[in-house]
Amino acid sequence: MRIRKVVFPVAGLGTRFLPASKVVPKEMLPLIDKPLIQYAVEEAVDAGCDTLIFVTNRYKHSIADFYDKSYELEAKLEAAGKHELLSIVRNLLPPGVRAVFVTQPEALGLGHAVLCAKAVVGNEPFAVMLPDDMIWNRGHGALRQMVEIAEEQRASVIAVEDVPREHTNRYGIVSAEPVTETLARLRGVVEKPKPDAAPSTLAIVGRYVLDPRIFELLETTGTGSGGEIQLTDAIATLLREQPVFSYRFTGRRFDCGNRLGMVQATVHLALEDPELHAPVVELMRERLSRE
Ligand code: G1P
Repeated sequence: MRIRKVVFPVAGLGTRFLPASKVVPKEMLPLIDKPLIQYAVEEAVDAGCDTLIFVTNRYKHSIADFYDKSYELEAKLEAAGKHELLSIVRNLLPPGVRAVFVTQPEALGLGHAVLCAKAVVGNEPFAVMLPDDMIWNRGHGALRQMVEIAEEQRASVIAVEDVPREHTNRYGIVSAEPVTETLARLRGVVEKPKPDAAPSTLAIVGRYVLDPRIFELLETTGTGSGGEIQLTDAIATLLREQPVFSYRFTGRRFDCGNRLGMVQATVHLALEDPELHAPVVELMRERLSRE
């Protein structure tokens, strides 16, 4: 079955970006000229998704505004003959792609956020994307790669990446049996283990393709790491019932959930941008020569 629906859990507080995130949701902070959320949305659209489900709260209205039609802005750009900008503004969501907003009334964890989307997703496999993990690609996006595998294997697929052992307590960590160089059958998964207790250094990155059975499991998943309802814990139950694969995606991930990751992503994107490349290299050269 085709994966058409994607859930973006975006109700987090974003305290690492205070004071900016006091009024601007962290998903709306820009990497160059696009808000972080739009990079994930474009990756979802590239993967063939047509229903984007944002799990938000009362402080995140600007995300809905961003995907709403702006008549005044469009009229002004049209009158000024700024057709390129007009087309960018009009195609934030391409034709045929719709945005649905669901409220997460309480911040009870990632698993709880995903569960809030149950009624909209229904009984079909779906994707979950955490926009903090920005994955840059020259070719097709990470989610598209995963959707192809999920459809082929008719199974859930979780994106993973090797991390330094001292960072295992920041991630869900998997143990898996290799099938190919990039694909492995998941045997276990644990949320944020201490380095000496981690079963491996293979970490879950914010991309999942999941069987809808996960919703029922989430309903009975108690609080786990950090006192929150963890998606990882429900996945640990799911893999005892049906095959779940981990997949080492092609692409470069930036952890935009913290300041350094935002800087790394910004520099990377600037260097990839035809207009910005030369002046940014120049700026770096000049700055580094004084370092
Ligand atoms: C969440 C998941 C974790 C995963 C991580 C990826 O953690 O719970 O398993 O490894 O995203 O970014 P969070 O970063 O929300 O604490």
